[in-house]
Amino acid sequence: MKLEQSFMDFMLHHQERHKRTYNFLVLLEAVQTAAKYIQYFYQTGSLKNLMGEAGITNVQGESVMEMDDIANGIVLHYLRRSNQVICAVTEEEADPIRLNEDGRYFFYYDPLDGSSNIKHNLPVGFMFAIAKRNLEGPEDHHLRKGSELRAAGIFLIPTGVFTLALADTGVFRFHLDETMTYVKPDNTERLVMPDDPKGWELSFNAGNRKTFSAKVQSWIDENESKYAFRYMGALAGDFHRLLSNGGMFLYPAIVNHPKPEKNRPKGKLRLLYEANVVAFIAREAGGLAVNEEGDDILEMKPESPHQRTALYVGSRLLVASIRDRLREKK
Ligand code: AHG
Ligand code: MN
Ligand code: MN
Repeated sequence: MKLEQSFMDFMLHHQERHKRTYNFLVLLEAVQTAAKYIQYFYQTGSLKNLMGEAGITNVQGESVMEMDDIANGIVLHYLRRSNQVICAVTEEEADPIRLNEDGRYFFYYDPLDGSSNIKHNLPVGFMFAIAKRNLEGPEDHHLRKGSELRAAGIFLIPTGVFTLALADTGVFRFHLDETMTYVKPDNTERLVMPDDPKGWELSFNAGNRKTFSAKVQSWIDENESKYAFRYMGALAGDFHRLLSNGGMFLYPAIVNHPKPEKNRPKGKLRLLYEANVVAFIAREAGGLAVNEEGDDILEMKPESPHQRTALYVGSRLLVASIRDRLREKK
């Protein structure tokens, strides 16, 4: 009889090998439980009429879908019950949420990424990042740089694939099996983005193309024909493909919109729970992520919980190529 390695078994042995506490296990147990409940509500949502709008807007001024709300509540519930999180930052709440004063971790999350896919039942993601409190020394703060993260992950929903990056360890994939257990197929090891450009893909909202800076437009003009183009409309899903195929996802600053009030000079994606998540996973898979200035996303010092950033993430050489263009004077 063949028994699969469960995600928790994988984590237990990882923690023991590195002589770490079990607190992190308790937190990840809560996180995977939340992901399974989001999965359940998402799969059955159309039957229960849960895939529409909630009728409110969030702190970003975006209309909240009922599923955004449900997923946010599920995650918050299991985080709170875990007793491991001092403070959580979620896309759906204006202020960071204090959860447990003894908690050792900061938790950043987008409970449902890719909301425009909801009404089509297409893939969305639950994305998260985890930083650790400074237990000795001065009181630290939730606005941490991506380079200080200990882990980041994406649950693809309802696909049932979970990608987890652990600091200085690598990226691993788990799949939901028939018993609703995340398991690691035994033929898979660390995930590394392929060096060979043959399968690389480009991913960006092509409708925005003329609103990008001249530098970005010229880079796209010169390079796009070398690669296949894919865009799902959910960073979680688009980045998921890139991890195995290589290439680059970009959401540049919008600086040339015909209606200037629609410009987004700081980009669209949120640093703490979107850009940092994929940047951290990319780094652990051998890739790179930079912002509009060409600086490393993981070195950005956040100034507010919902800060936005432009994002270029993917295979190291390809991101380095656009980074060099972004850094050119003029
Ligand atoms: P969210 O659904 O959490 O608000 O995030 C949506 C984000 C991201 O997932 C996606 O890559 C991007 O918005 C798509 O934006 P466009 O519709 O502008 O392409
Ligand atoms: Mn999102
Ligand atoms: Mn979201």
